[in-house]
Amino acid sequence: MTTKKTTNSQAAASTEDDPGHLVVFDTTLRDGEQSPGISLDAAEKLEIAEQLARVGVDYVEAGFPVASQGDFEAVQAIAREVGNEPGAPAICGLSRTHIADVDRCWEALRDAARARIHVFISTSPQHMEHMLKMTQAQVLAETRAGVARAREHTGDVEFSPQDATRTPLDFMLEVLVTAVEAGATTLNIPDTVGYGIPWDFGALIQHIRRQVPGDYVLSTHCHNDLGLATANTLAGVQAGARQVEVCVNGLGERAGNAALEEVVMALRIRPDQFPGITTTVRTEELARVSRLVARLTGYPVQYNKAVVGRNAFAHESGIHQHGVLADRSTYEIIDAASVGQVGRQIVLGKHSGRHAFADTLEKMGIHVQGDALNQAFARFKELADRKVEITEADIEAIVAEELGHDLIEGFKLEALEVSGGTVGMPRAGVVLSRAGDKIEATSEGNGMIDAACSAIRTATGVQTRLIGFNVSSVTGGVDALGDVVVQLEAEGLKVSGRGVSTDVVEASTRAYLAAVNRFVRIKARNERRQVEIGP
Ligand code: KIV
Ligand code: ZN
Repeated sequence: MTTKKTTNSQAAASTEDDPGHLVVFDTTLRDGEQSPGISLDAAEKLEIAEQLARVGVDYVEAGFPVASQGDFEAVQAIAREVGNEPGAPAICGLSRTHIADVDRCWEALRDAARARIHVFISTSPQHMEHMLKMTQAQVLAETRAGVARAREHTGDVEFSPQDATRTPLDFMLEVLVTAVEAGATTLNIPDTVGYGIPWDFGALIQHIRRQVPGDYVLSTHCHNDLGLATANTLAGVQAGARQVEVCVNGLGERAGNAALEEVVMALRIRPDQFPGITTTVRTEELARVSRLVARLTGYPVQYNKAVVGRNAFAHESGIHQHGVLADRSTYEIIDAASVGQVGRQIVLGKHSGRHAFADTLEKMGIHVQGDALNQAFARFKELADRKVEITEADIEAIVAEELGHDLIEGFKLEALEVSGGTVGMPRAGVVLSRAGDKIEATSEGNGMIDAACSAIRTATGVQTRLIGFNVSSVTGGVDALGDVVVQLEAEGLKVSGRGVSTDVVEASTRAYLAAVNRFVRIKARNERRQVEIGP
């Protein structure tokens, strides 16, 4: 396969300069955000995009601009702010083949230094018959028109035949040839429903390379329904794909997409299997982006998640511990520091001032100002009174929680009082504030956490059902921050929230309130939503 240099295509340009360069296309903000219950606003998306730029991915797929005004604004903000920083990733937006969608997508992207339009249409019989209600001839015509329109805007156009792995091969080849003729510079092969098996998916990639003439970069987009997304992606790379579409923590529709951290580390640890393949990812940033995404989406990372899970470098059995103490290579193939999995100690304590705190945040790449900074500083002081060692992860956790409050202008927890034990009914009283008003409520419950959540329901008037509750600690030790994630259902919406504190009842109350705030915000946003579509 050869690649063509286009005026606006980093993918084509970088693979031409270095045929071993693998383009890392992150779609956390688009496909990842399609995970049930995740809804990020523009500020949260910007924060993740900034961290993805620090990670060094080549592309950030920032959203689906025609889907809603919120998505449009988020893509535009990322294109303007992240897409113009020195060494920034190129910014991509998703679009159906409709001309109006393509134009709207370009409108959102146009201010980025480098922008890509990603045009898709379904090609499998299941999708064509039940969703599109189009014939093959119509799909071919749509492909040609959509891609050609995108090419009028930018030299960097990606095309995806959705549900490719269930599409008859001859038809898919015809669609891909049409897309290349119309100007597509990247051909992405989505395993939309996670149907692929590694050797079969690899063979498909190889077949396309051989049968579709032209200058383009071939790309993988693998879903994880059978737990094979990373394996299929790697098989695609071995067969000649030079772009991988991935999400942080493997987020995405249903069982998710191939995980950024898994794909990148597999390539890094096994160069013998991928000779000459390189990425520009700074692996030391992987744990941080994983934590940020987990916090802002409310999707916790499973403990045993490869690379970024908290147990990825933990050893339980005596034999393993003995081996690792003698030499880490006995049971570890990845150096924890190389993926940022070592809690860096912050030299801040209870006597540190606001300046030192703000300076530390800046060094960590966290930009907070005004009220959010004051509140984060107050939380830091409280924490310093209760906890001897403060790590970067602790600071990230409290700042993220305070930022979350600010962004959503929701209810704030001003005070919490609980009583309970083995005798008598557990009780809780909360004082919340919202837009300058104070709201107080008291309640009883099955335990102190239940009583506090019930008091919040009374104070906010939001009736919810608890469907998930998870407690973990941010770091080790008896004074560790408790990190609680709750999932709630309210009016048919599933939302999650996170709270941190050295006190688990307080952390749970904060998490519950964060989820209520998220519900309030999503409800308001849905009411504003203009067009409701999704791939
Ligand atoms: O899974 C999929 O098919 C997609 C496309 C829009 C690329 O996400
Ligand atoms: Zn997808």
